[in-house]
Amino acid sequence: MYFIANWKMYGDLKSLNSLNRVIKFSKKYKKKKIKIIYCPPYTLLDSFSKKLKKTKIELGAQNCHYEILNGPFTGSISPTMLKKIGSNYVIIGHSENRLAGETNDEINKKIKSSIKSNLKVIFCIGETLIQKKRKLTNKILHQQIIKGLFKIKNLNKILIAYEPVWSIGTGVIPKIDDLDKNITFIKNVLKKHLKVKNPKVLYGGSVNSKNVENLVTIKAIDGFLVGGASQKAKNFIDIVEKTII
Ligand code: 13P
Repeated sequence: MYFIANWKMYGDLKSLNSLNRVIKFSKKYKKKKIKIIYCPPYTLLDSFSKKLKKTKIELGAQNCHYEILNGPFTGSISPTMLKKIGSNYVIIGHSENRLAGETNDEINKKIKSSIKSNLKVIFCIGETLIQKKRKLTNKILHQQIIKGLFKIKNLNKILIAYEPVWSIGTGVIPKIDDLDKNITFIKNVLKKHLKVKNPKVLYGGSVNSKNVENLVTIKAIDGFLVGGASQKAKNFIDIVEKTII
């Protein structure tokens, strides 16, 4: 079970303190199959990386440029830079970036470069509210998967995060039946069209310690990508605990 904390544009050096609690907690559950991954903003990657050494918790970044190594791209970070600083994962295709103009084609290039740089990819997909209302969810998910993963070989290095755009930061989560169907649909696309043997699909969007007990009843879910509720150690630990008990 994956528990990924996406801190988005939050956090400073003081927030590093909240990690101590989670590190202590993670030691307690060494034997369970839990993978905790922190994705803080770029400014905290180095400090997190030092702090997470010798722990089971892994580090990820929230985005990267598609250029593997270096280049004249002011304000951007390459996947190689992320790897060198201690990241093992990178989130790509988050709807907050898609809404800002990131295309499926760019996402595809970023995924390719990240895999070449030996990063694992948390690849976000999800429909908007209008698309859902127009019953286009399956079509959109299919398109995002096929275009985002076009000509990518190491598909076992990819975790899919299904994040319906309308449920991010809104407190609204999908109906359990719908979510179950969508996750199963995503897994089937990966199995049938891309020949992925054992696809991993996480859910993200307003996950908290109250609704997670319900969400985890869906057998096909392999974990959660948590935004707001991951910023406080207690909330994040509660989410993990409620899932594994
Ligand atoms: P919230 O958990 O704050 O809804 O954010 C979800 C998300 O976007 C994680 O990537």
